[in-house]
Amino acid sequence: MTNDILLEVKDLKVHFPIFGGIFQRKVATVKAVDGVSFTMRRGETLGLVGESGCGKTTVGRALINITKIMSPDVQIEGEILFHLPDGKVVDFAKLSKSEMRPYRSRIQMIFQDPFSSLNPRMTVAQIIEEPLRIHTQMSKSEMKERVMWLLNKVGMQPEQAGRYPHEFSGGQRQRVGIARALATNPDLIVCDEPVSALDVSIQAQVINLMQDIQDEFGVSFLFIAHDLSVVEHISARIAVMYLGNMVEYGAAEQVFFEPKHPYSRALLSAVPVANPDSGRGNRTALQGDVPTPLAKPSGCPFRTRCPIARPDCANNFPPFRQMGSGHYVACPYTE
Ligand SMILES: Nc1ncnc2c1ncn2[C@@H]1O[C@H](COP(=O)(O)OP(=O)(O)OP(=O)(O)O)[C@@H](O)[C@H]1O
Ligand SMILES: [Mg+2]
Repeated sequence: MTNDILLEVKDLKVHFPIFGGIFQRKVATVKAVDGVSFTMRRGETLGLVGESGCGKTTVGRALINITKIMSPDVQIEGEILFHLPDGKVVDFAKLSKSEMRPYRSRIQMIFQDPFSSLNPRMTVAQIIEEPLRIHTQMSKSEMKERVMWLLNKVGMQPEQAGRYPHEFSGGQRQRVGIARALATNPDLIVCDEPVSALDVSIQAQVINLMQDIQDEFGVSFLFIAHDLSVVEHISARIAVMYLGNMVEYGAAEQVFFEPKHPYSRALLSAVPVANPDSGRGNRTALQGDVPTPLAKPSGCPFRTRCPIARPDCANNFPPFRQMGSGHYVACPYTE
């Protein structure tokens, strides 16, 4: 079905120029995202994983089109095609801040640290109400009613509405962040490591809540995490990034149980295995450090740490190769 597509990202590049010297000339470019493509469907979760600095947050910010606001010198290329419910398609990558305004409420973001992302001087009710005030014409009583309804949806009590973020645990604060993100009924929520700062037991509660909310609201999540095991349960599809490039993309079961790219395999070998006969028992710890995105290796960016690298891996970035239905891998030599 083509009509349930929400978002198509095509060859997205986000490059940050670095200025230096007394004349503040451009001395280098951080290729934070360097040609990333993926498709998201309505009501589905795409898990985006990779080590620190590989460009996950930069992808998330590009989708909500706030990169230019945060870094005016940034160079953005490619397409971010957002499909509206009426069938119209808008390229967010081409819109200015003011042109983006009518679509802002359709994409929201949840952050890793629910403490710093919630204004400490606002009550829970004010925090959840804020997007309603900005994006809707609701009356005060309508907003109040919606806030109470949202609090209930995220499993909080009405009497907690007047309290402040510091009065809550990390898990509860993340519930407030989820309620705020849901307030305007968005099509997509970019969840940037929403559970990384929480205890493992609380992580499961928050992920279950997000899954319930997805079932009820039909909202799509771009779920960013370091750890493949966190996204496996919630994602329909998983994308693995390395140094600004996507190296593997497929259904969650394919990437989690039959990873093909040597980098995905190494990421997964850090995850404990329940069934050692599953073929994932062989641990391949990654050698060396992630190269800096200021000086990315030529060709395949992973070749400097890759156990199966060959000399010609230095020549070109390997094109995606299909290795199963909907399963793509940027490596010509993996079996
Ligand atoms: N505004 C900016 N100016 C210059 N470089 C930037 C900017 N924002 C991000 N970067 C660089 O881009 C690269 C990707 O950063 P990003 O925050 O997207 O990584 P990440 O995958 O989210 O990492 P983490 O898991 O640590 O959150 C990093 O090398 C980072 O230093
Ligand atoms: Mg990040």
